[in-house]
Amino acid sequence: PASLRLGIAGLGTVGTGTVKIIQKNAELLTRRTGRSIAISAVSARDRHKNRDIDLSDYAWEEDARVLAARDDIDVFVELIGGEEGIAREAITIALNSGKDVVTANKALLAIHGQELAELAEANGRVIRFEAAVAGGIPVIKTMTESLAGNQIKRVMGVMNGTCNYILTRMENAGLPYDEVFEEARKLGYLEADPTLDVGGIDASHKLAILSSIAFGTKPAFDAVEIEGIERVSIDDIRRASDMGYRIKLLGVAQMTARGLEQRMSPCLVPADSPLGQLQGGTNMVVIEGDSVGQIVLRGAGAGEGPTASSVMSDVIEIARGVRLPVFGQPATTLRETQPARTAVP
Ligand code: NAP
Ligand code: HSE
Repeated sequence: PASLRLGIAGLGTVGTGTVKIIQKNAELLTRRTGRSIAISAVSARDRHKNRDIDLSDYAWEEDARVLAARDDIDVFVELIGGEEGIAREAITIALNSGKDVVTANKALLAIHGQELAELAEANGRVIRFEAAVAGGIPVIKTMTESLAGNQIKRVMGVMNGTCNYILTRMENAGLPYDEVFEEARKLGYLEADPTLDVGGIDASHKLAILSSIAFGTKPAFDAVEIEGIERVSIDDIRRASDMGYRIKLLGVAQMTARGLEQRMSPCLVPADSPLGQLQGGTNMVVIEGDSVGQIVLRGAGAGEGPTASSVMSDVIEIARGVRLPVFGQPATTLRETQPARTAVP
């Protein structure tokens, strides 16, 4: 079979990691998919930035939207980010010009995922986004493929590594929030807009995507009840610890008699439970199915290698000709969400 030709837009942490895997594991990828995976063209803002990778074999496009429309690509890989603007425009162009799409963009998917998945289906294309939730943890494929025979009862977990780092560091070092926040900033852990992390928004984007898959509902980020970690004090952490608990920014999605409950907030979890034991920047997702019972997935929720690993899992599925609907069912069959507010008795 012919090569699968990629256009990669965005050559930051995740884009660079993806190029590295394709270059390093070329032979392995061909053996596993039966065809070669080739990069035709790439795009980023600054052509002259040193990225520590050899890009000389690939065409360079100044504009990701032009890259998305090129005739010599089969798959548009969007690794720029942002819920609006260039990423959304370029993906729309790619789908309308007959390309499949792979993206890691959780903000875009939590807000426009339904519309983009419908556009993909209308064009006979697929859009896939394993890397958008929990970095290197294969949670989307676990739910849409391995657990497809289950009714999902509940999905919950720690889905923002930066918040987990801040909370565990506060506890382990006995340091106040402000000091650890500054430390996290210096270490480069925080998003450019840190409120996405500490305000619980990034984790809520991920929860909205997972609950859509779990319950067959349209992604409903606006319906997530969100409280971040900004007001968690060292005294809260100490008191929790004295009672045998830890404080985690926990996302929970479950279908109740009142509708879909989605909440993201600092919660007490038993210190000796798997969630309580979670240290540093790690993520954990717990899925409960009616037949399988409880599944616990744990791993790196961010970073070059782990996130690129998930991007590649989507590229590989497309190379193998697997064309599953990414929300676990056709986007046109997803139901309207009826949000249940947890404060209502
Ligand atoms: P990043 O390091 O900031 O890289 C973003 C890339 O996009 C850069 O190469 C930048 O170009 C390029 N870019 C920005 N504006 C552009 C434009 N208008 N046209 C073309 N290219 C443009 O971001 P990242 O961490 O790799 O994240 C990429 C995506 O993956 C985001 O959606 C993010 O939410 C998601 N994600 C990231 C992680 C993670 O661990 N980093 C984990 C899960 C998901 P220059 O390099 O020239 O500035
Ligand atoms: N800021 C995110 C986190 C990056 O800390 O988990 C990965 O989505």
